[in-house]
Amino acid sequence: MKHLLTTQGLSKDDAILLLDTSAQMAATQSRENKKLPTLRGRTVVNLFYEDSTRTRISFETAAKRLSADVINFSAKGSSVSKGESLKDTALTLHAMGADAVVVRHSASGAAHQLAHAGWLDAGVLNAGDGMHQHPTQALLDAFTIRRHLVGNVGEDGRGTDTSAGADLSGLRIAIVGDVLHSRVARSNVYLLHTLGAEVTLVAPPTLVPVGVETWPCRVSYHLDETLEQWQPDGVMMLRVQRERMSGGSGSFFPSPMEYSRKFGFDARRLAVLPEHAIVMHPGPMNRGLEISAAAADHPRSVIVEQVANGVAVRMAALYLLLAGTDPGSETSTDERN
Ligand code: CP
Repeated sequence: MKHLLTTQGLSKDDAILLLDTSAQMAATQSRENKKLPTLRGRTVVNLFYEDSTRTRISFETAAKRLSADVINFSAKGSSVSKGESLKDTALTLHAMGADAVVVRHSASGAAHQLAHAGWLDAGVLNAGDGMHQHPTQALLDAFTIRRHLVGNVGEDGRGTDTSAGADLSGLRIAIVGDVLHSRVARSNVYLLHTLGAEVTLVAPPTLVPVGVETWPCRVSYHLDETLEQWQPDGVMMLRVQRERMSGGSGSFFPSPMEYSRKFGFDARRLAVLPEHAIVMHPGPMNRGLEISAAAADHPRSVIVEQVANGVAVRMAALYLLLAGTDPGSETSTDERN
């Protein structure tokens, strides 16, 4: 595995390997000494052209837990503000000996370009490119679903994980909200389908992308009907991305109040789900818009656990790119080759 750019085209074997390796990494994180020597002497660059809290910090934590040297690059405050191109930035990172580059960029396809333009030898991990893909988010979501709904772990997440090797067959996951702008939704639809889960996207017609009929999922415009009749095992709420809407004005629907009434997740909607069902959100959340505080903070919410699992999943991805054996073809995680 040379790059991790997308979940579309990721084989089931590679997906299971990533999840199983994540479980092994998670086990090391409950030890007193969390640090492993695996990537000593390797350099990981976090190249962030868009804001991030969870992804950037967890990639940094993951790389440090594997003993890599970490360079954090934020476009704000760099020579990007003087007009430097992605190519010249990549050549600079190459000259500095980067072994892996974790990139977040507002342009869909930026990670693919960085991986394949010949500017770098480094492995590239896509940390979110425009509205396209966010593969490590989908992997940490699948990991969280598997631990809760397939495997057996303690309530603190530290018990024995019995999910090794398992897929998500038979599980139903509803992904709800601003699908149009969501790289998280795209990445999850493909990964969850590969792992055998059934996915229903629920959104207002204005927030459903053109071409969604080619995605491996169902689409519904009615949240209450989906929750009551389909009885999902997990509900993944999406952030309403007002910054990607026309002019960043946020005029996405008749009104935020109506959006919340029709598509917001709250304690009333939680009550119609099966007792084992979990509530997810990739963060950051718009509390009171797509999810109420009562639902976000409910015992069946796994939102904070998703963040914790992100470290283990990113450790696994860095390990498999930089130190692990190749589970398949070099480009098995990149559908464009
Ligand atoms: N889920 C996610 O990508 O969060 P950040 O934007 O904070 O990284």
